[in-house]
This record gives sequence, structure tokens and C-alpha cells, in this order.
Amino acid sequence: MNWPTTVLTERLGLRYPIIQAPMTGGPGTPQLTAAVSNAGGLGSLAGSHLQPDRLRDAIAEVRALTDRPFAVNLAAGSPARLDQHRLGRACELLAPYRAELGLSPALAAPPDPPDFLDQLAVVMEEGVPALSVVFGVPDSACLNRVRDAGIAVLGTATHLLEAIVLEESGVDFIVAQGAEAGGHRATFIGQPEQGLVGTLALVPLLTKHVGVPIIAAGGVMDGRGVAAMRMLGADGAQMGTAFLACPESGAHPAYKALLSQGNELATTLSRAFTGRCGRVLRNRLVDELRAHEAELPGFPLQLFLTQELSQAAADRGLTDFMPLWAGQGCNLCQPRPAAELVALWAEQAADLLGGEARPNAISPALARERPEIADADPAYII
Ligand SMILES: Cc1cc2nc3c(=O)[nH]c(=O)nc-3n(C[C@H](O)[C@H](O)[C@H](O)COP(=O)(O)O)c2cc1C
Repeated sequence: MNWPTTVLTERLGLRYPIIQAPMTGGPGTPQLTAAVSNAGGLGSLAGSHLQPDRLRDAIAEVRALTDRPFAVNLAAGSPARLDQHRLGRACELLAPYRAELGLSPALAAPPDPPDFLDQLAVVMEEGVPALSVVFGVPDSACLNRVRDAGIAVLGTATHLLEAIVLEESGVDFIVAQGAEAGGHRATFIGQPEQGLVGTLALVPLLTKHVGVPIIAAGGVMDGRGVAAMRMLGADGAQMGTAFLACPESGAHPAYKALLSQGNELATTLSRAFTGRCGRVLRNRLVDELRAHEAELPGFPLQLFLTQELSQAAADRGLTDFMPLWAGQGCNLCQPRPAAELVALWAEQAADLLGGEARPNAISPALARERPEIADADPAYII
């Protein structure tokens, strides 16, 4: 079994069907994206929070570090409506913590979030190989323009109905985000708490009912997880938490240290940091705002309100007020370079699947279609 060959590896010219998840909030860096792409996986650049000019710069930073394919990730959902009452209430709730860190009680008015269509224009102008989208689905006209530009589109689903909507919209791949996953829940139909299907159940469910190739995300921490997801019918695995402790990750050292400590800090779902439900390590802010989550403004307003507090906490190495996004598998994080991890996981998965960890061969058809991949890696043409 030449295990790495899937529609995903063929379409994007990857050696291994391993995607590094986009990670906003600090951990995702151009260095991490490029390291994974150079190692033969698909690195992802988290772009949802970047204004178009910054997004263009970040893409250029990745390109300066790799000539391999990579993905840019954007958020398709609409930002929450400005609600002065909720903003006021959140300011009140955050005031004691700001005082504790010596910050003034006044909070800056939230800036306008980046415009999705402007960000998309940058992605198309830059001709990035892949676009992954979370929190919804762009309208079909938009999506067709992206696909006509030759950009592979990955949508994200947390349950079957979302996967069906994504398939109908014409995405090329669906990332199935299981309940174990670190970071925001990608749910865009219904409440995130209703979409808490574990990866083990979600992947075969989606492969049974939708025709689009499925990428498994959530709780995949090593080659065993990658092999298991292939056995369940996934075309690849998208891994976030497993890369958090890498030297290329921008996660704060105190955050990295907590991941594998296995102490009483466990992951939980919280809206405290951004107004959107996501999986984090429990800390003081998460626990103390738990009872008030329903009063908080939505995404990304709450994020703007907590950013300064999180930064001040990070400056002091204080994890109490940092957003410690992490999946349930966090105890298995390894503080090793991303390229080493990708190679190790590929070998482990190949052993388990009875194949070889040799890099994926590039078919003559792909070599003709994507000469840049063949040029970069002539050894891998069949
Ligand atoms: C720190 C962190 C930040 C994340 N940020 C994003 C993001 O910006 N966009 C996105 O689509 N997914 C994001 N995710 C979720 C991942 O895409 C993916 O679903 C998840 O990492 C898979 O589960 P795992 O963490 O157990 O590997 C993030 C995950 C983490 C851990």
C-alpha cells in the first residue's frame, strides 16, 4: 500500500497527507507553515485576523521560506453585531483583571474586523495553492472564482448537515473537525455544543454520506492517529495541537510547558477569550467568566476586549489570562522541530498501514500540470 497517495496529496503535490492546522492567536507562524510544507505536508497560514496588507506580507514571508504548496485560512462567517450593552458588560467583567495587571479600566473601541472579500482578493491575487475556510461557506459565485483560479478549497464541518452544505457549495475537501479539536469550534449551523461529535464517529459518517474527500481533524497527535484516520476513510489528517510545542510555534513558553504537564489543567470549551466557543486549557479567566459567558459579546468583539489583557499576561508569563487553545490530546505534544515530527509520523503511519514512508510519487499527469512541483522534486516522479 503506497499509503500517502490520496486525492489530497495528488491535487496539491504533497509527499504526505498531513496538514498543519491554521492556528491564530500566536502559535501559527510563517516559520511553522513553511517547515511543514518543506517536510512534505501542507502548512497552513492563519489569515482570518489579518487586514489585507498584513495578509499579503504574511504570504510573502511564507513564500520566502518555502516553494512548496501551502494553504491560507480565512473565516467566512459574519462578525457579531456591535451590541453596546454586551460590550459594556464585558468591560465591567474584565475590569478587575485589567486592574490586577495594572491596565487602565478604559478599553479602546473595537476596530473593524478585516473584510472577508478583501482578504479573498489577496488570496486570489497571490495565487496561493489552497484556501481553507472556517465558520461557514462563501457563496457559490465567490467559491467558483477561487476554484477557477486553480486554488483548492477546503471547508470545515463539525456535523453531517454542514458537510452536505459544504459539498453542495462546491468545496474540494471537507475538514471534519471532531469534538477533541483544539481552538474554535468551526460550527456554523446550530450551536457548537450540538456539533460535538468525536473524530472517530465523524470521519466515517462523513465519508459515508458525502462524496468530497474528508480530512480528519481533532485528537490526531502522531502517526498512529494519522493511520487510524486513513483506516476510517479520511484522505488526510489536519493536526493543530500536535504542532503547538514545536520550536517554530509562536505559543508562549509558559503555554508550551503546560501542554504536556498532565496536571489538573484539562481542556474545556469556553467563550471567554473571543466570544466564540473553543477548546482551551482551563485557566483562571475561563473558570471565573464561565457563569457570564451568555452575557459576553460575540466574535470577534470579545477578542478585541481581551487582547490587551492576554498580551499583558503573556508579558509577565502569567497563564491565568492567556488563551491557551489546545485539543484533548495535548498531553502527547512533543517539543521537536516540525519537520522531524512530520517525518516521524509519516514513518509510524506507514508501518501501521503496511506501506513505506517513502515520499509520495508524483504522477506524470500532475508533473505536466504542475511543473513547479516536478522541478522541485524530480526524484519523486514515477
Ligand atoms: C491554537 C489553535 C488555533 C487554531 N486556530 C484556527 C484557525 O485560525 N482557523 C481554523 O480553521 N482552525 C483553527 N484551529 C483548529 C484547527 O484547524 C483544527 O481543527 C484542530 O487543531 C484539530 O484538532 P487538534 O488540535 O486536536 O489537532 C486552531 C487550533 C489550535 C490548537
